[in-house]
Amino acid sequence: MPDTIPTRVLTGITTSGTPHLGNYVGAIRPAIAASRQPGAESFYFLADYHALVKVQEPARVQRSTLEIAAAWLACGLQPESVWFYRQSDIPEIPELTWLLTCIAGKGLLNRAHAYKAAVDRNRGDGEDDDAGINAGLFMYPVLMAADILLFNANKVPVGRDQVQHIEMARDFAQRFNHLYGHHFVLPDAVIEEQVATLPGLDGRKMSKSYDNTIALFAPRGELKKQILSIVTDSRLPGEPKDTEGSALFQIYQAFASADEAAEMRVAYADGIGWGDAKQRVFDRIDVEIAPLREQYEALIAHPQRIEAQLRDGAQRLRERHATPRLRALREAVGLRDLSTTNVGAAPAAAKSTATAPATSSAIFKQYREADGKFYFKLVDGERVLLQSVGFDSPKDAGARVARLKLGEFNVDDTVVSVGPGVAPDEVVAALAAMIAESNEK
Ligand code: TRP
Repeated sequence: MPDTIPTRVLTGITTSGTPHLGNYVGAIRPAIAASRQPGAESFYFLADYHALVKVQEPARVQRSTLEIAAAWLACGLQPESVWFYRQSDIPEIPELTWLLTCIAGKGLLNRAHAYKAAVDRNRGDGEDDDAGINAGLFMYPVLMAADILLFNANKVPVGRDQVQHIEMARDFAQRFNHLYGHHFVLPDAVIEEQVATLPGLDGRKMSKSYDNTIALFAPRGELKKQILSIVTDSRLPGEPKDTEGSALFQIYQAFASADEAAEMRVAYADGIGWGDAKQRVFDRIDVEIAPLREQYEALIAHPQRIEAQLRDGAQRLRERHATPRLRALREAVGLRDLSTTNVGAAPAAAKSTATAPATSSAIFKQYREADGKFYFKLVDGERVLLQSVGFDSPKDAGARVARLKLGEFNVDDTVVSVGPGVAPDEVVAALAAMIAESNEK
C-alpha cells in the first residue's frame, strides 16, 4: 500500500567500547522506543569507521562491534523493521565521503570542536599544533555527514557534543545542492531533553573517557559490586539524605517509575542507609536488565548469527537505498558513462559544473484515474520511464514525486516501477538531469 512518507531517523554508535548503563538509558532504550513509533523509518548503525579514529587495537574494534550489536538486539531492536547495519558494510559511505570532502570547507573543519580541542591541548603542551593528530579526526565530520546524507535522514538523535557535526552536515549538503542540484535533505539534530544523562560511579557524566561506567551486561554479581561502589556522602543510616546531587538517586530515577522515585525520595528523607539504598537501586535495575542480559548472553554466544544479520541488513539497505543513491550522486558530479557525452558541446567556461550533458526532456505527470486514486508517471515524450501505483491522496503522490526529484529511486520499489523496455540507468540519468536543470533555473 502506498504509505505516507515516513520521517527518517538515523543515528550511529561508535564501536569503541563496551555498552554501559549510560548508553542504555541515553541512547539504546529511547532509540528502540522511537523505532516502534508509527511514521518513522529508523536507520541505526555501528559506526566502526569512526571507531578507527580513536582505537587502533583491531581486537577491541571487533569485540566492541560484536558487543554493541548484541546489546541493541538484546534490548529489542527488530532488524526486520529497522535498518540495522554496520557502516563498513556500506562502501557507498566512504565513496560519498570523498564527494563531500571535495566540497567541504577546510576552514569549517578547522573549527570542529573535537579537532580544535586536540590542537588546543597541543598548544598547551607547547607542541606543534597537529602533533599526534591523525587526519581521521580532522575528517570525522565529513564521514559523519556521509552517514547521514546518503540516506537523506530528516532527524538525527545525538548528544549535545554532536550538534556541531549535524550543522556541518547541513553545510555540506547545502554546498552540494548549490553546485549540483537538490540532492540532499538538510538533517536536523534531535536532542532528547527528557532523556537523562546518567551520572557514573564518581558522579560525573557516565562516560568511558572518565572510566566511571557501569557495564550494561556485566554478570549480576559484578553489576551489584559496581552499584555498591557508586559515590555517596558520609551520612550515616538514620541521617536524612539529599536526593539533589545524589548520583545514586539519579541512576535510580532513570529506571524507576514516578511512584517508585517518590518512594525513594521519602526513604532518603527518612534516613535510609546507603547500603540499603544501593541494594534497592540494584534490585530495580536488575529487574529491567536481567531478561535482556539473558538475551544478550544467548546472542553473544553465536557471533556468526549476528554477523549474518548485519550482512543481511547491509545488503538490503544497499539494494534499496545506498547503491541507487550513489549512482545518482556520481552522475550529478560528472562521474558518468562516457557514451552519454554531448560530443559537439564545448564545456561552458564559468558555470560548467551544472551543464549536464544529458539534458532531460522527462517530466512528471500527476493525474487521477477513474478508480479515484492519484497516480503519477515520469514520461519522456511517448516513453513511460516510471509508473506509480494509485495513492489515496494527492499529497502522498506528491511526496513520492518529491523524493524522486531528490534522486531517490530504486529498481525494486513496489510503489514506483520502471516502464516497459526502460533500463533503470535511464531513469537515474533522467532524474539527475532534471535535478541539474532545476538547479540552473
Ligand atoms: N559521532 C557519533 C558519536 O560519537 C557517532 C556517529 C557516527 C553518528 N556517525 C553518525 C551519530 C551519524 C549520528 C549520525 O556519538
